Amino acid sequence: MLARYDLAGAAATGFRGQLASRPATLWRYREVLPVRLDSSIVSLGEGFTPLIHARRLGERLGVPNLYLKDEGVNPTGSFKARGQAVAISMALELGIHKVAIPSAGNAGGAMAAYAAQAGMRALVYMPEGTPLMNQLECGLFGAEVKTVPGSIADCGRALRERIESEGWFEVSTLKEPYRVEGKKTMAYEIVEQLGGVPDALIYPAGGGTGLVGMWKAFGEMEQMGWIGAKRPRMVAVQAAGCAPIVRAFAAGAERAAPWQNPETIASGLRVPSALGDFLMLRALRESRGAALAVDDRAMLEGVATLAKVEGVLTAPEGGATLAALERLLASGFLAGRESIVLFLTGSGYKYVEALEAVAKDR
Ligand SMILES: Cc1ncc(COP(=O)(O)O)c(C=O)c1O
Repeated sequence: MLARYDLAGAAATGFRGQLASRPATLWRYREVLPVRLDSSIVSLGEGFTPLIHARRLGERLGVPNLYLKDEGVNPTGSFKARGQAVAISMALELGIHKVAIPSAGNAGGAMAAYAAQAGMRALVYMPEGTPLMNQLECGLFGAEVKTVPGSIADCGRALRERIESEGWFEVSTLKEPYRVEGKKTMAYEIVEQLGGVPDALIYPAGGGTGLVGMWKAFGEMEQMGWIGAKRPRMVAVQAAGCAPIVRAFAAGAERAAPWQNPETIASGLRVPSALGDFLMLRALRESRGAALAVDDRAMLEGVATLAKVEGVLTAPEGGATLAALERLLASGFLAGRESIVLFLTGSGYKYVEALEAVAKDR
């Protein structure tokens, strides 16, 4: 299910011209978000994150127009805040009081925070080995937290029984339509911040809500006459130890087979199968994009370089985008003079376990 809007009506309000005077949160795009009543909005100030011009790194790589979308400054330290802000606001509007999620870490933390502000009960199932801070924050936000052996897929299975017997509303990736709506605002922001559509986006993909949402947003912006037919090349980065979308993309498949024994320090990318696999694959192909996997070492190198050269401490998932960029420049897939946006989807500050070794190495 994807939300649809009266886009002609939205465009006719002329809200694009008012954006500059609106609050610096994702709610500035209110006309293309699903919440009807202002009183339903649950917000911690999410969205409208900085788009940093990475001059020094760009110079090194021969990409003068390299940008970092720093999603780590969102509430709860990741872009998951966007999806959860909109999903929990809609849940409130629809009279839901109990929300549950299987999470690789950041989505659970974000859901718990917004549920706390909304006065809802929250239940989070996480894989064992999820960064400790993700587990702790959920508890501090008042959620019930359970850790489960295996991956997020095992958490989903373990959670199902409780959802059915206890009547929780499930906020899993793409099982409800509103997280995508929150995530899509990244595309609106980039077009607003750059004054147009970039040539390529590099995104660390797990369940893929961001990719699916941004692809939808570009279509909406074209329908409202904000942009033309040009789309950025959409690039999905996954971990070498869990790359179902990369494998399906290379095989020309429409759906991705589940990945066995997923293994990576980038907990957000330890997603062995994604409900929206076909939507992700479609966006990658229609945009003449790419899907590639990078190993954990390359991700951590990416984290260290982004920290040292640009002063941004990102999560391993963010580091993966730099590793992917380097590969795509070397192969000639991205020509270098293009404008390229790397999605630094989470803050490095939650990944103490993974980053301790990197820091000691330096
Ligand atoms: C920091 C980070 N980056 C990327 C992802 C993957 O996001 P998505 O599942 O929307 O593809 C996650 C998911 O948990 C994450 O926490």
